[in-house]
Amino acid sequence: MSAQSNTPHDAEPAEFAFDAESERQIAQILAKYPPERKASGVIPLLYVVQKQMGRQTGSAWVPRVAMDAVAERLEMAPIRVYEVATFYLMFNTKPIGKYHLQVCTTTSCWLRGSDDVTAACKAATGIGAFGETSADGMFTMTEVECLGACANAPILQVDDDYYEDMDGPRTTELIAALRRGERPKPGPTIDRMDSAPVGGRKTLLDTAGQGTGTQDNG
Ligand code: FES
Repeated sequence: MSAQSNTPHDAEPAEFAFDAESERQIAQILAKYPPERKASGVIPLLYVVQKQMGRQTGSAWVPRVAMDAVAERLEMAPIRVYEVATFYLMFNTKPIGKYHLQVCTTTSCWLRGSDDVTAACKAATGIGAFGETSADGMFTMTEVECLGACANAPILQVDDDYYEDMDGPRTTELIAALRRGERPKPGPTIDRMDSAPVGGRKTLLDTAGQGTGTQDNG
């Protein structure tokens, strides 16, 4: 797991201002909360910052100066924004590559081959370890905990998209497609309907409503 820090990074911009798209999103977010409770918008606003940095620089991260801008907008002490931004792994507190490869290595994914996914990510990008960015600046690889999609393990999350039922060769193909500027459709990468059983349905097969599928209660 990569270390999170609110220490200003070398790439820290001198200043940060919300752009028009971010201002539009912030207005929608803050409309959900009473004015005296607008601090509740801290997580969504940090996401807004991260997206804006991605649009403007190609690297979706949250600089310290932007945390300060969020604190000012929400009338919070800056330390409270730093606490949130450095606690949650989904906020990048240092620059990352154009594509963020997030490999789930928790139990279900590990049992189903996350080691192969990790090895394929390394081989296809030249990255040596979790937390590193490829020399060409295209990819950052991060180890993440359970992504809540265990039924389709192993999962490789790219930015906000889940690629499911992955293995080594499909990981290699996906990274090659990203390099070509393509964005393959997220979801299961094998012939499978969402999280339905591999090979087709196994229960509730009696469509006439006369039985209880394959279950035998004696
Ligand atoms: S263990 Fe990987 S999604 Fe749950």
